[in-house]
Amino acid sequence: MRLDRLVSQHSGVSRREVAGWIRAGRLTVDGVVVRDSGYAVATSVDVVLLDGAPVRAPTELTLMLHKPPGCVSATEDAQHATVLDLLPASLRRPRLAPIGRLDKDTTGLLLLTTDGGLQHLIAHPRRKVEKVYLATLRPDTLAPDTEARFAAGITLADGSVCRPARLQRLPGDRVEVTVVEGKYHQVKRMLGACGGHVTALHRQQVGPLRLDPDLPEGQARPLSAAEVEALRAAASDPIRHSHRP
Ligand code: URA
Repeated sequence: MRLDRLVSQHSGVSRREVAGWIRAGRLTVDGVVVRDSGYAVATSVDVVLLDGAPVRAPTELTLMLHKPPGCVSATEDAQHATVLDLLPASLRRPRLAPIGRLDKDTTGLLLLTTDGGLQHLIAHPRRKVEKVYLATLRPDTLAPDTEARFAAGITLADGSVCRPARLQRLPGDRVEVTVVEGKYHQVKRMLGACGGHVTALHRQQVGPLRLDPDLPEGQARPLSAAEVEALRAAASDPIRHSHRP
């Protein structure tokens, strides 16, 4: 495997950044400094060190996926393609599963992890990790007092009450919605309760992580160690990341 690819996969850092490390002489293979990003590493036998420390596969992997429409947020499904089907072999791992769900037609940021602890931390209903969505609506359907109703906590058609949320109107019959829960079809049902009909839904952000603008639809990349830490901190400290809704 190419040296830059191996180090990128094992460190969660982009290949471009890793190339800089390699140029700077920070990587050795079997004790020799290698400055060629394309150097072919024999992964099973060569000893690769970064600044003198072994580059090892992280025990857990967390991915950011730019989910396209048409696949389900599940690990297996008898009828539909799943988000796991989108991943190249190099990013597939046993136990890799989505954190929460996006509807089949929803696009945008979906996190996947092998780390059961992180999964539990973020998806647990008592945690208040903010999720930011961009919704496109049928024209002129939303009630004038929707912002206030979101802020107060919407009551859905089945009687369940949502936590306070935030709605901001945008040009072109679009709204930005920030919620701290993950009820089934939550954003569509909240907007529906205010007369809105969602024609497209896209998740832009989960906690501190925004969908990487360089990540094309259908592709995934590992989170860096710093990104995983920021996510963990957001979920562990609800106060810091739930200041507005
Ligand atoms: N709310 C929805 O209605 N759908 C999603 O996919 C996510 C949040």
